[in-house]
Amino acid sequence: MNARSATPAAKRPSRKGTQSADVLPKIRSLGALAEAEEECTRCPLYRFATQVVPGEGKSRARIMLVGEQPGDKEDIAGRPFVGPAGRLLDDAIVAAGLERKELFITNAVKHFKFEQRGKRRLHKKPNPYEIERCRIWLDIERLLVRPQIIVAMGATAIRSVTGRAMTIAKLRGRLHPLADGAQMIATIHPSYLLRIRQDPDWPAQQKLFVRDLKLARR
Ligand code: URA
Repeated sequence: MNARSATPAAKRPSRKGTQSADVLPKIRSLGALAEAEEECTRCPLYRFATQVVPGEGKSRARIMLVGEQPGDKEDIAGRPFVGPAGRLLDDAIVAAGLERKELFITNAVKHFKFEQRGKRRLHKKPNPYEIERCRIWLDIERLLVRPQIIVAMGATAIRSVTGRAMTIAKLRGRLHPLADGAQMIATIHPSYLLRIRQDPDWPAQQKLFVRDLKLARR
C-alpha cells in the first residue's frame, strides 16, 4: 500500500447520494437520532470527548443554525452553544428578532476535538475526514427537521452542509439553494467575534452577523 492510499481520505465515503440511506429507516425521531449518535465511532474523536453533543431545538424549525463542533463547555454540558460563543450567538439571535426556542441549533461535528495543555483543553479544528465522517448526522437532522433555511456558521459548517470547501466571503449575503430544497445562508462563526472582541472592527462584524441572521428570518 502506498502512502497515498493509506491516508484517511482514501477511506472517505462517496459524497454522491445520501450517506444516511442505510441508517435512516431506524431513525425516525430526534430522540432516536441522539441515541444513535451516542454510539458513534465513525471517527476517532469519540475516544477523547466527554460525550456526544447532538443538535437541539424545535423539531420542525424553519431555521437551522450549524456551527463547527462543541467547545469545552458544550462537551461537559452535552448541549450546543452554551459557552462563550453561545452567549454571543444568543445576543445576535435576539438582535435579529429571532427566538432560540424557535430554531434548531447543531454542529457539523458532534464531538469536541481538542489538544490538552496542562489542565486546559484547547479547541482544535476538525479536519476534512472528521467532517465527512460526521456528516451523516447532520444529513439525518436535516431530513427530520426539514428546515427551509440553513445558516452555516463558518467554513466547517459550509463544508458539511454543501459537501464542498468554499469560502464565506464568496457566499455571504445571499441565499444559496440546496439539493433538498432548503436554502443556505453562509456567515462567520460566532467564535470569530469572540476572537476580535478588542478589535475596532468588532461592531461592524457583529452588525454583519446580525444582518445574516435577519436574512434568515425574512
Ligand atoms: N462552537 C461551535 O461551533 N459549537 C458549539 O456548540 C460551541 C462553540
